[in-house]
Amino acid sequence: MGLTGFLTEYRDLFRLQKRMAGIFPSFGQQKEWIEKLRRVDRHVKTAHNPSHILEFLAAIFALKPGVPGCIVEAGAFKGGGTAKISLAAKYQDRQLVVFDSFEGLPENTEEHQRSVLGHSIEGWFKAGNFNGSLEEVKENVTSYGDISVCTFIKGWFEDTMPSFKQQVALAYLDVDLASSTRTCLKHLYPLISPGGAIYSQDGDFPLVIEVFKDEKFWKEEVGCTEMPIIKGLGKKITIIEKHS
Ligand SMILES: C[S@@+](CC[C@H](N)C(=O)[O-])C[C@H]1O[C@@H](n2cnc3c(N)ncnc32)[C@H](O)[C@@H]1O
Repeated sequence: MGLTGFLTEYRDLFRLQKRMAGIFPSFGQQKEWIEKLRRVDRHVKTAHNPSHILEFLAAIFALKPGVPGCIVEAGAFKGGGTAKISLAAKYQDRQLVVFDSFEGLPENTEEHQRSVLGHSIEGWFKAGNFNGSLEEVKENVTSYGDISVCTFIKGWFEDTMPSFKQQVALAYLDVDLASSTRTCLKHLYPLISPGGAIYSQDGDFPLVIEVFKDEKFWKEEVGCTEMPIIKGLGKKITIIEKHS
């Protein structure tokens, strides 16, 4: 591992320790959770940044019993994020519903150039990229997460989400494409319970930012009377809280 890799790992571990210390008062529990989450990173190829998903895990741990509904993950790849989220969902006695094609990204004509954070994302989101089969994901979640709370819904979001009608407490979107983000917001936002939220880890991609800012979309397609308040846009993790 080079110096950059070492520093990144050190920074991620520091963030993880700090986060866990804020969630669990007992040192033993902090250690246990740090080990569980790092185990996933050591064994599963992930396309998430550990510190980004940590924000979402912290939201699950902070979930109040009065906010009903399941947890949703859209975009599983090899199941690394799924494994982590399933552990937190189990701890909170919530079900986790996982949506993915399990065939990678769909055909698309989106031209992504650069994240607003500065790095190139050109050519990242071609059809078939980030492919993880359902069997592979289930194996990883069985080995490193908690499969007992998971339901997997295989197919293109456009086909699977319209008939999904369960109440949702928290949803995590890691779907790369503006078109996929649009479909997820359209079908999931109306299902979010008051006090719940949607987290997107794609809030630094310009084409995705356009979707979040599209007032016409929120009003005409999602059915909101007002644009929801969107936090963190342009800073990777973007959060849409639902208040009523
Ligand atoms: C960047 S990967 C997810 C990474 C994953 N969260 C992790 O922790 O490693 C994006 C995922 O979104 C899925 N995806 C994107 N758009 C989709 C769509 N319209 N329908 C179904 N799956 C889609 C892809 O199959 C892929 O698994």
